[in-house]
Formats: sequence, structure tokens, C-alpha cells
Amino acid sequence: GAPAELSARVVAWQRQHGRHELPWQQTRDPYRVWLSEIMLQQTQVTTVRAYYARFLERFPDIAALAAAPLDEVLSAWAGLGYYSRARNLHACAQAVMSHHGGRFPNNAAELETLPGIGRSTAAAIAAFCFDERAAILDGNVKRVLTRALGFGDDLASATNERALWDRAQALLPPSATDMPAYTQGLMDLGATVCSTRKPDCLLCPLSEICIARGEGRPEAYPVKTRK
Ligand code: ADE
Repeated sequence: GAPAELSARVVAWQRQHGRHELPWQQTRDPYRVWLSEIMLQQTQVTTVRAYYARFLERFPDIAALAAAPLDEVLSAWAGLGYYSRARNLHACAQAVMSHHGGRFPNNAAELETLPGIGRSTAAAIAAFCFDERAAILDGNVKRVLTRALGFGDDLASATNERALWDRAQALLPPSATDMPAYTQGLMDLGATVCSTRKPDCLLCPLSEICIARGEGRPEAYPVKTRK
């Protein structure tokens, strides 16, 4: 059916054309994957690479991070900006130590209860580390999916946003082992091919099934008015 077709296209594209060499793709350790996802939320991949390696040298595991004074964490974060991320990082490490026996929860629902981990980040960690069939929906992925689906309802409305989450969940690959490639593929498409202003539809594995492309106006999605 159509949902399986979209996921199969994304998975095949990611395996052939997506990124595989990034440091946080070489591990299923939730500590490392979590750290990369938090850093990547508001910072470019090229910048994150250097900070990520240095941060892991200083705080090699969750116990080291939890035990460190906050000001050391903040100074290791210096340059990445959005310091609330670093405060949440420290609080999250302490919560994992105190409430989860020093091991990250192995599912999105529990990950989402931790400081600084929202629904999309919880799903990304669960997909990458545990093959969980959980949907991500960050800004880049909203663009890819609203265009592919021709989802024209205003995402300023919480009801419409919930509807898009439901659509995203329904589009997941049937096979859980495809979840890491699918999740990374959506992120990579959103970050490169399916750009805001000039999407490169000729390079997109979804072009033949993309509703927005069929309408000739991919840039019209997503619809988001100011509240
Ligand atoms: N942005 C957010 N998560 C990412 C990831 N895993 N790889 C590349 N860019 C990202």
C-alpha cells in the first residue's frame, strides 16, 4: 500500500545516498545517541562533530556527566548556544542515575519523561538504539511529510499537529529493523533535498508520490500561520 511505499523509498534512499559515517551513527549506545540528538537540535552537523568528540572525552558516560558540576558541563557546551539544553542535559543525566539505575530507558514513552527529551527526540533515540517503531516529527521532517502527503492544514493548531503525528506514525516501516535507516533518511531528506525554499525534487526518492510536487508547489508546505 501507499504507506509502505513511502517508507520503502526513504529506507532505500538512505542506504544508497544518506549519511552513514557520522560518529553518532557508529553506535547504539543511548548515551551517545542522546547527546548527539540534543546537540543537533539547534546546531549544524559540522559544528556538532567537534563538540561531540570533545564532550565525550570529558564526560565518557552518563555517570561521569551526572557527577560533574553544572558549571563544567556549561563550559564544555560553550559555543553551542541555547544553554537550557546543557542544563537539561545535566538534569537528565542525574535523573537517569537516580531514577533508572544509571541506564537510559529502552522505549520512547519513558525517554520522553526525562528533562529536555521531547516526543521527537525520544522517538529518534528509541528508533536508533532499540529499533522502536516511533515517529519523529521535527521541523525538517514536518516539511518532508506535509509535502509528501499534501497535508495543508495549519500546524499552528494543536489538533492539526496531532493529526500529522498520527499520519507520521501510520507511515512507519512495517519492519522494525528498518527504523534506524528510515529515521535517518527522513532527517537527511529534510536537511538536504527537501529544503524550505528550493527543494531539489529531481534528487528526491519521494518525487513520484509527493502530493505537493504533483501540485507544482512544494514550497507552499507546511502551512503554519502565526497564532
Ligand atoms: N539532526 C537531528 N538528528 C540528526 C541526526 N541523527 N543526523 C543528522 N542530523 C540530525
